[in-house]
Amino acid sequence: GRVAVLMGGHSAEREISLASGGECLAALQAMGVEATAFDPAERPVAALADYDRAFIALHGPGGEDGVMQGALEAMGIPYTGSGVLASALGMDKLRSKCIWQAMELPTPAFRVLRHGDDPQAVVEALGLPLFVKPLREGSSMGTARVDRGADLAAAAEQARAFGGAALVERCIDGPEYTLALLADRDLPAIRIEVDEPFYDYRAKYQSESTRMVLPCGLDVAAEARMAQLARRAFAAIGACGWGRVDVMADSEGGLWLLEVNTIPGMTDHSLVPAAAASAGIGMHELVARILLTSWR
Ligand code: DAL
Ligand code: MG
Repeated sequence: GRVAVLMGGHSAEREISLASGGECLAALQAMGVEATAFDPAERPVAALADYDRAFIALHGPGGEDGVMQGALEAMGIPYTGSGVLASALGMDKLRSKCIWQAMELPTPAFRVLRHGDDPQAVVEALGLPLFVKPLREGSSMGTARVDRGADLAAAAEQARAFGGAALVERCIDGPEYTLALLADRDLPAIRIEVDEPFYDYRAKYQSESTRMVLPCGLDVAAEARMAQLARRAFAAIGACGWGRVDVMADSEGGLWLLEVNTIPGMTDHSLVPAAAASAGIGMHELVARILLTSWR
């Protein structure tokens, strides 16, 4: 049947989504699937009624956060990836962390900074350096590393410009790892190395010096432990189908959950296609397997 590849949308990650969707659309068409690009910023969602199935390549609020998933549910159109609740939770870093804490899964200590809250109290509670993030964004939009207490207020203001409060997290030294999950298969972990102060927007999409280290250098037992943590984190928010879990390691070998991405990037700079390739899964097979997650 006809597949709508949802891409673009209204979020700050629109350009990334167009790149992700373009890659997925090309792969589907190359396999002979009758697939068409569908940009919810340009066409009413009701026009999805003309399609049999939706492949969602939207990132950020309005596409990755349960809104589109809910519309598709109501229209009876099957779609790829997680359902409404898990999509909403995965988009929300604060609520994800609350759930992991309740389940005793490790995530960096945090506070929420609303307008008018005292930044100094957060510095006293968490120490320095800190990471400051919008509650519901992707691709490191609005995220800053804060090394001096005096810079926290401005960083929180910048994060709040994306809407809602600012999430402030204790900094974990790293290295940073990411784990892609594809149906019930765990793809190899990637270690991320950057020249920037952290894996920010530039390091993610523009820098030619960002390294995706594969194999990631962990021994088999350590990688298995990380994969198990990623699976637990994914299941804890009710995610299914496919996704990517971002994890920081510390110098003592401790692992800390940063977030779940329920619709991770699929651009030619993105992590999931790289992890799949290292497992012998090319872009066509990867996209075919993601499409299969819409049968449930
Ligand atoms: N939010 C971006 C697209 C990612 O997680 O890859
Ligand atoms: Mg994210």
